[in-house]
Amino acid sequence: MKSLLKNLNKELTEQTPFWLMRQAGRYLPEYRELRAEKGGFLAMAYDPKAACEITMQPIRRYGMDGAIIFSDILTIPHALGQDLQFVKGEGPKLPPLRSKSDFEMLSFDDFETTLQPVYDALSLTSKQLSVEGFDHVTLLGFAGAPWTVATYMVEGGGSKDYINIKALAYGQPDIFQALIDLITEATSRYLIKQIEAGAEAVKIFDSWAGVLDPDQFEQWAIKPVQRIVESIKAVYPDTPVIGFPRGAGMNYPKYAAATGVDCCAFDSMMPLEWIAEHVQPHCTVQGNMDPAVLLAGGDIMEKKINEILKVMSKKPFIFNLGHGINLQTPPEHVERLTALVHGFRR
Ligand code: CP3
Repeated sequence: MKSLLKNLNKELTEQTPFWLMRQAGRYLPEYRELRAEKGGFLAMAYDPKAACEITMQPIRRYGMDGAIIFSDILTIPHALGQDLQFVKGEGPKLPPLRSKSDFEMLSFDDFETTLQPVYDALSLTSKQLSVEGFDHVTLLGFAGAPWTVATYMVEGGGSKDYINIKALAYGQPDIFQALIDLITEATSRYLIKQIEAGAEAVKIFDSWAGVLDPDQFEQWAIKPVQRIVESIKAVYPDTPVIGFPRGAGMNYPKYAAATGVDCCAFDSMMPLEWIAEHVQPHCTVQGNMDPAVLLAGGDIMEKKINEILKVMSKKPFIFNLGHGINLQTPPEHVERLTALVHGFRR
């Protein structure tokens, strides 16, 4: 079995597997070239050949143990009928949903046709990995968690204070619950189809889990993910699920225990010894080097990589960053990281 999958199945391997969040993207010149040619992010994400090519780019350069399909968490609102644009230098923009009638416009009518290119990209990449001899690489699918996806749908893009979505959650709990239920259903269908198309494991990104209070965390970060994991496992009991409740802090152990994820991914804010003590006995762990360390490179990077591997690699572990790779990162730093992580022996 592939080493990343082995670790997800709670088996130790001599070498620690790794991949990096946003490993395909703007820090790579070959990505920027293709982006200029295709004319934008969404055009590439919905073009199975382009998405496959971009997914392969970092694998060809570095041979990571995981290849995450090139797409975005915002394909779900898009497939439910909400307009989506990526404005250069500004990130995603959606017409914000606020009133009851805004929410009533969402539907499953075009859901599968909109998402078909993502499934096609997965099938294509699954084949391409073996054509190019990357038999050690695990193909990963993904989606956003309902809470994080809902924040983009209601705020209309990124947010500093999440005030509109929180006002909705506290002030109109019925409407908010219906929205979470809809995204939960959509995400379950989406991830099951991704597995059908060739994803060997899937990851659920809850990038904004850290802004929830403890009750809300239980309600909006844990429960919907628990339902998604249950739906996936009912169809694919052996496909591992990775959960990433970024910024969850003290709530991490509860999330790991209650959601049923096989692996819990960590941000850089959490102390290694604490993770090893409170979470690693229960599930596989993934993380958590600060992307700024990879940007800096040099001796500090070597020191941090070794610290993480020494503490975490005694149990099933996947090396990764604590958040997405910074776009200014010199590609040579990733090459050095690869040599250091793959050179380390448990
Ligand atoms: O990790 C990977 O390499 C796979 C591809 C991937 C992308 N987005 C590609 C992308 C994944 C897993 C995501 C997830 C995603 N998207 C998250 C969760 C993880 C996280 O970062 O917290 C979130 C919150 C989004 C929403 C999103 N998409 C934002 C806020 C932005 C703009 C910020 C930015 O980095 O430009 C995007 C655009 C995006 N998604 C890009 C890429 C490569 C940049 C597009 C470009 O301009 O080329």
